[in-house]
Amino acid sequence: MPCTVVTGGFWGDEGKGKIISYLALNDQLDVCVRTGSVNAAHTVWYQGRRYALHMVPAAFVHEKCRLLIGTGANINIPQFLKEVEETNVKNRIGIDHQASIIEEKHSIQDKTNAHLKGVVGTTGCGVGPAIEERVRRSAKLAKSIPELQAYVTDVSKEANNAINNGKKVLLEGTQGFMLSLFYGIPPYVTGRDTSASAICSEAGVGPTRIDNVLIVFKAFMTRVGAGPLPGELTKEEAVKRGWFEIAAGTGRERRSAPFNFELARKAVMINGATQVAVTKLDILYPQCKGAKNYDEIPEEAKQFIKEIGKQAGIPVVLIGTGPEALDIVDRRK
Ligand code: IMP
Ligand code: MG
Repeated sequence: MPCTVVTGGFWGDEGKGKIISYLALNDQLDVCVRTGSVNAAHTVWYQGRRYALHMVPAAFVHEKCRLLIGTGANINIPQFLKEVEETNVKNRIGIDHQASIIEEKHSIQDKTNAHLKGVVGTTGCGVGPAIEERVRRSAKLAKSIPELQAYVTDVSKEANNAINNGKKVLLEGTQGFMLSLFYGIPPYVTGRDTSASAICSEAGVGPTRIDNVLIVFKAFMTRVGAGPLPGELTKEEAVKRGWFEIAAGTGRERRSAPFNFELARKAVMINGATQVAVTKLDILYPQCKGAKNYDEIPEEAKQFIKEIGKQAGIPVVLIGTGPEALDIVDRRK
């Protein structure tokens, strides 16, 4: 902290929601700014309950945290209102006045366009078409929507004031580096840059204000939708290894592959990452399940973590050992 960017290192679904919920509770975050849009679902398990959040920042679990959605985000109004209700955050959440709106028509365009649906394999949430409309400068903005008046604020001002006052601020990236419009492999990418610099820009916080860039890698890789996945396993093999997952957002099957060090090094470089979080280590090494101390981890798993740190050239500070927010080994302590 005080200002940390959390960014995904692979194709999304690395477990950013879990890491952010842990940081919110453990580090007592003051402010969390979510970027991106509803195509991303952040899963948070807290006190036995599961939340799949498409709009509300994952730091909601810490009741004193101010929750913000940045100007770069695209708001799906019914989804936002539904999640605000579910998480009971009505009086501590704000949306930037210039965040843009995803309308029903954008989702229809996304689902019926042969290229987007058939070739790219988008989530169908309408994010790409909503961004297109924004680029044409005809998108609706949060400030002009009556239902959002209670929530609109100046997010960059709030975030920068918090940083100036020494508060703990987290900028929540969504999706993953390999889905970036700039750094993934087109056309198999999302409609925006997903790297740390873009997260800062979407939140309205300049690069000199950032203390840490925490990059999140899952212990194995997964991908939904079309596009290359180096080392991809067959579904049977993925099931056998316990790596087979169903997407939190769309219910689609995720493809999987072993951890790729070369991609990880590239992601660390372009994100300017300073720290690594590795999630789901307990899936690779079941003896790790629920571990909270590094000593509880078997030697083979320690070797894997050491190798990630060595190849990334930065320390692995957080290790996920189970789905709950607090199932974590925190090596910062
Ligand atoms: P779009 O972002 O809905 O346009 O989809 C573009 C590509 O990114 C598709 O391959 C999607 O499956 C993928 N994608 C978008 N958001 C996420 C995410 O949060 N997690 C995983 N994949 C995603
Ligand atoms: Mg997800």
